[in-house]
Amino acid sequence: MSSRSATAPPSPALVVGGTGMLSGTVQALADQGCTTAVLARRPGPPARTGPVVAVPVDYTDPAALKDALFKAVRDTGRFRLAVLWVHTPAQASAYGVIAQALTDDALVVEVLGSAAAAPSAPPATAPAPFHGHRYRRVVLGFADGDDGTTRWLSHREISEGVTAALRTPEDLRIIGRVRPWTDRPRT
Ligand SMILES: NC(=O)c1ccc[n+]([C@@H]2O[C@H](COP(=O)([O-])OP(=O)(O)OC[C@H]3O[C@@H](n4cnc5c(N)ncnc54)[C@H](OP(=O)(O)O)[C@@H]3O)[C@@H](O)[C@H]2O)c1
Repeated sequence: MSSRSATAPPSPALVVGGTGMLSGTVQALADQGCTTAVLARRPGPPARTGPVVAVPVDYTDPAALKDALFKAVRDTGRFRLAVLWVHTPAQASAYGVIAQALTDDALVVEVLGSAAAAPSAPPATAPAPFHGHRYRRVVLGFADGDDGTTRWLSHREISEGVTAALRTPEDLRIIGRVRPWTDRPRT
């Protein structure tokens, strides 16, 4: 009998940008027995514990991205969960490639910087490559500091917020806050 609980995340998972602020999310997925592919230019060696697979590639190169993802898929199977932290200029090319490595019923969780919540930001919609998938977005906001000012989120707050978003069927989760917009940290 499997040791994975009924609330275990879909497996296998892909975490793009999983070596930085999303490291804690990768660890949480692996701790729940989810086979997790970590995509970064320098993802490091696979973790000694937990089913973590390194996918070393630059996501700004669509051909290299396709090769690397399909090499990973040969080992893991198509991804049933994708957590995506992709810098804005690369999103248009990378998302189309990533979508090809997903199962039809995959859950896509797109992580976006606070600019996605700016008053001038366009209305939120799923990027076209993910129209056939379940889609959620997580917006990184800011937090209150100790001295009456605001600060950007810590890596731990970001990873914990993204991990919570995997468990909760909300279309949108804001980590910290984004209102009033004029409270954003200046640095
Ligand atoms: N509202 C907020 O509080 C907020 C919002 C946004 C960002 N931030 C902060 O800003 C910091 C800097 O942001 P960051 O984007 O550098 O985040 P990061 O998560 O620390 O690092 C970016 C991740 O993406 C990977 N990556 C970057 N470029 C890549 C490429 N071309 N191809 C493949 N993988 C790539 C990196 O690995 P490789 O370098 O090995 O490729 C790494 O895993 C973050 O650590 C976070 O604390 C805060």
